Amino acid sequence: MKKILITGANGLLGQALLKTFSGEFEILAADLQEGLALALAGQSPGGMVHYQPLDISDPKNCREVVLQNRPDIIINAAAYTNVDGCETDKDLCWKVNVKGVENLAAAARRNMALVVHISTDYIFDGAEGPYGEDHKPNPLGYYGKSKLASENAVRVAGIPYAIVRTNVLYGAGVNVKNNFFLWVYHSLKSGKTINVVTDQWNNPTLAEELSEGIRLLIEKSKYGVYHIGGKEYLNRFDFALRIAEVFGFPRELIRPITTDQLKQEAPRPMRGGVKIERARSELGFDPRPLKNVLEQLKARLEGSV
Ligand SMILES: NC(=O)c1ccc[n+]([C@@H]2O[C@H](COP(=O)([O-])OP(=O)(O)OC[C@H]3O[C@@H](n4cnc5c(N)ncnc54)[C@H](OP(=O)(O)O)[C@@H]3O)[C@@H](O)[C@H]2O)c1
Repeated sequence: MKKILITGANGLLGQALLKTFSGEFEILAADLQEGLALALAGQSPGGMVHYQPLDISDPKNCREVVLQNRPDIIINAAAYTNVDGCETDKDLCWKVNVKGVENLAAAARRNMALVVHISTDYIFDGAEGPYGEDHKPNPLGYYGKSKLASENAVRVAGIPYAIVRTNVLYGAGVNVKNNFFLWVYHSLKSGKTINVVTDQWNNPTLAEELSEGIRLLIEKSKYGVYHIGGKEYLNRFDFALRIAEVFGFPRELIRPITTDQLKQEAPRPMRGGVKIERARSELGFDPRPLKNVLEQLKARLEGSV
């Protein structure tokens, strides 16, 4: 059985990856904190999931974990994902998002492990999205700059690699950070009015669908850059309305605003998102309609699945 190291295993994508790959691979679920990764390791049938403490910003830690465990594949879902936080704490952002990836890639080289690294549509400026894999990057903010540099770190490392770019990752998980979907869901459920931007466009991506795309990529031994995203391209306001519709929340609670009214630290790409034709044709990636995804999340959050 092949061995896979999943970094950032307690994060939104990390948790989806643990589900997708368990059973098929021996899993090293690695993160800064014990969290769900440790709990799952304790419950895993046949002991095929192991928890591994790992700070990717520590080169020695990366080296030791890879040399002791010799994974065939490393999926890097660890990152400093706070887009505004990256503007105010650039050192931390660079240390995790760039140095961390350099460390992992250098460790992977000792073992020639395949590295699957997750990146973002924030490497583009949002002038003409959705973007194809070959579009020229031009990040607006420091998070996007750090993720672009992380891609370059993987490209020059002399290892087999795949870079998977996604956008507006959403879903539910155990103790996950707030994502756009969860913010809308919890706010509307408690009757709170929310202001949502009408001018940021994306194809929001369910974490489990991204995880399935990554599984397909590994199964088909594909390398290089792939864009994996949701089926529908829409703005955040319309996304919030679609959530309200499926969950039966009053749509009047959602008020339209524009990005400049938000005064966020980091500039945002306006027309972002990723074109998924390459993933469709080469991987057989086939995301479901948004309505179906939201209905499934509703069933899950209401406890019937
Ligand atoms: N979220 C989005 O909308 C989005 C969009 C496009 C691309 N992406 C990319 O997708 C990937 C997964 O994102 P996500 O939303 O699942 O992120 P997430 O929920 O924030 O999870 C990231 C995980 O990495 C951990 N981590 C942070 N610093 C670390 C370090 N130095 N060493 C090891 N682990 C560390 C975090 O731990 P703590 O929580 O303890 O810090 C967390 O468990 C990231 O590469 C992100 O850039 C995300």
